[in-house]
Amino acid sequence: MTQTHRRYHITTFGCQMNKADSERMAGILEDMGLEFVEDPNQADLILYNTCTIRDNAEQKVYSYLGRQAKRKQEQPDLTLIVAGCVAQQEGEALMRRVPELDLVMGPQHANRLQDLLEDVFAGNQVVATEPIHIMEDITKPRRDSRVTAWVNVIYGCNERCTYCVVPSVRGVEQSRTPEAIRAEMEELGRQGYKEVTLLGQNIDAYGRDLPGTKPNGSHLHTFTDLLYFVHDVPGIERIRFATSHPRYFTERLIRACAELPKVCEHFHIPFQSGDNDVLKAMARGYTHEKYRQIIDKIRYYIPDAAISADAIVGFPGETEEQFENTLKLVEDIGFDQLNTAAYSPRPGTPAALWENQLSEEVKSDRLQRLNHLVGTKAAERSQRYMGRIEEVLVEDINPKQPTQVMGRTRSNRLTFFDGDINQLKGHLIKVKITEVRPFSLTGQPI
Ligand code: SAH
Ligand code: SF4
Ligand code: F3S
Repeated sequence: MTQTHRRYHITTFGCQMNKADSERMAGILEDMGLEFVEDPNQADLILYNTCTIRDNAEQKVYSYLGRQAKRKQEQPDLTLIVAGCVAQQEGEALMRRVPELDLVMGPQHANRLQDLLEDVFAGNQVVATEPIHIMEDITKPRRDSRVTAWVNVIYGCNERCTYCVVPSVRGVEQSRTPEAIRAEMEELGRQGYKEVTLLGQNIDAYGRDLPGTKPNGSHLHTFTDLLYFVHDVPGIERIRFATSHPRYFTERLIRACAELPKVCEHFHIPFQSGDNDVLKAMARGYTHEKYRQIIDKIRYYIPDAAISADAIVGFPGETEEQFENTLKLVEDIGFDQLNTAAYSPRPGTPAALWENQLSEEVKSDRLQRLNHLVGTKAAERSQRYMGRIEEVLVEDINPKQPTQVMGRTRSNRLTFFDGDINQLKGHLIKVKITEVRPFSLTGQPI
């Protein structure tokens, strides 16, 4: 089979990890001589990089896949790949369910795509889901943006939150070395990238699995040390990171963020529930009091910091009163942004087997009430930007208003203003904010 002029398409579901993996897999495919095509129906190779965090995410994958499996019956040389978290969760079963598939590959195998495909082109159906040591990135990712970039710092997760599939689909924690991370950032700086987001499911766990201890017996490498190690990479003007875990979040990290000028004033720290008994049932390892103390500390060192989080409503056994404790936490803290979800039972997780599941009606009612409060609080938080001058890193045009460009403030608020993308892309522009909405701003460049 000739590989020249073959065209590939990737659709990515799920979180930033998957987006970063897709960019690396796209880089590998381009190295192999394939060309990207926007429309999957024009592609000779389709890769779905999938998410299974909630049932609706998983179902979406099957409906996309169904359509292409049909197409393959008329076009047998179409190569169909499922990568990512559904692939890892379902493995062989997915191959049986959709026999048209050529390759099912878990997230740890993303960097091995070329090897796996060679096996496929030799005529095999391949399932790659065994746990492996993740290879250091060998290919240049094909990044979606020329301004902002993801950089993985730790793969996997060793927590055991009782609702969550991530540890079983992403495997154990594997930190990259500080040198490899810095080298990737230096290359990004040379290529003209301005902003880097350091990624980990539990970024505070960074370094625990790397060798070495400090004289006091603690780990040689921590995430805070990593920030100090990479903060001066030439060309990179902004550094972000996600996701923080309240169980391991340290005051030293807050001080580093306050001290290091490139590290942006935004913290994403999921709390999941505002009720201590629910937090315990989730096995999160902290109380709402501890969470509040973290936020107080952040606001002590960095008063204007933006705070975002994730929360789940309708966890098994959650009472109305316990749900109201979540509302209360949201009311008290006033998040700039909150990702909310109704609890979804996931295969292989402890909470899915419990008998005290709540009805869909109760869950969706709570989700609506929480979302309403989130919108109100975000609108309040946006008010503080009115009339202020904010630094915006221009990323792209405003898709809804092409005479405007869009970018983000250091605190991660989406901001629009009039301007020409060809002149402004990748520039840091001072913008006077003239209009505020709950989750975005409009202003004028000064
Ligand atoms: N590592 C991050 C989050 C990873 S998953 C952390 O520890 O916070 C992203 C979000 O999906 C979670 O924060 C949680 O709010 C949500 N989520 C995970 N499993 C879920 C489930 N079974 N049902 C509903 N939401 C879930
Ligand atoms: Fe899932 Fe918990 Fe790990 Fe986050 S910390 S990925 S919620 S198990
Ligand atoms: Fe989804 Fe996997 Fe991310 S389950 S949220 S794509 S780690």
